[in-house]
Amino acid sequence: MPIEYESVKPLIGARVHASRNDMSDPDFVRECLSLLDDRLVLVFPQIGLDDKEQLAFTDLLGERYNFVKQLTSGDEEDVYKITLDPEINKTPEYVLGTFFWHMDGVMEETPPSKASLLSCRKAAETGGQTEFANLFAAYEHLPEEEKRQLEGLTVLHSVYSAVRPVLELDVTPDNFDGIKKQQEHPLVWQHDSGRKSLLVGTHADRVVQLPLAEGRALLIRLLEWSAQPDFTYRHQWQEGDFVVWNNCGALHRVIPYDKHSGRTMHRTSVAGNEHIK
Ligand code: OGA
Ligand code: MN
Repeated sequence: MPIEYESVKPLIGARVHASRNDMSDPDFVRECLSLLDDRLVLVFPQIGLDDKEQLAFTDLLGERYNFVKQLTSGDEEDVYKITLDPEINKTPEYVLGTFFWHMDGVMEETPPSKASLLSCRKAAETGGQTEFANLFAAYEHLPEEEKRQLEGLTVLHSVYSAVRPVLELDVTPDNFDGIKKQQEHPLVWQHDSGRKSLLVGTHADRVVQLPLAEGRALLIRLLEWSAQPDFTYRHQWQEGDFVVWNNCGALHRVIPYDKHSGRTMHRTSVAGNEHIK
């Protein structure tokens, strides 16, 4: 049975018509994977998966990747709970970082996750929508002259740059170890498929070959370009919604929400199988 969906916008997004049973059908999962290449973001409105079902679907997409490695004792714990509730979340700086455009896992030595998956357990009353930007479209729609200017440029991506917007001034690279992580990546990622995408985001700190100000101006301009309405989709969450995105080809961020809103999302990830190059 072919997958049934409708495109949300011409360049991004698919609303998929599926039942919870379909999610464990290997043929259906294969079709989801190919749709992810094309539409970047798959929305399963109010499908209401529980953690077990979300993990089972994650495992069918690829190899489950656990961001919070210290919590590996049981199945449930491969599900990361995204909340700003101060009772539950003792390290809000990581979740506050999600307010800014990013790709998951860019500063790791392993390839960035292939797909990220979010289930909405409780939506915020105001704010809390998640936005996605198609980085293939962002590259492909650049004028040819500009594509040529980007050839050979590499970018230093750093945790410091990613968390700078949410840091208190007394947190410096000297007293927060994880902040030192950085990776150099090409500004244009040529994927195994042959397609190219831009790689920008708040973690993109500087262009190695350019003076600091020129490089940052370029990175900010390319980020603004990538986030233009034609290339982006904003998801308004309802409880039970499930969204899967192609993490290597898209940026995402959440519209700010109140830490007392109760907004809670359950996140799983599929390990990447392609280094950025
Ligand atoms: C994530 C993320 C945004 C959100 O799960 O990686 O950035 O909407 N989440 O909570
Ligand atoms: Mn994220």
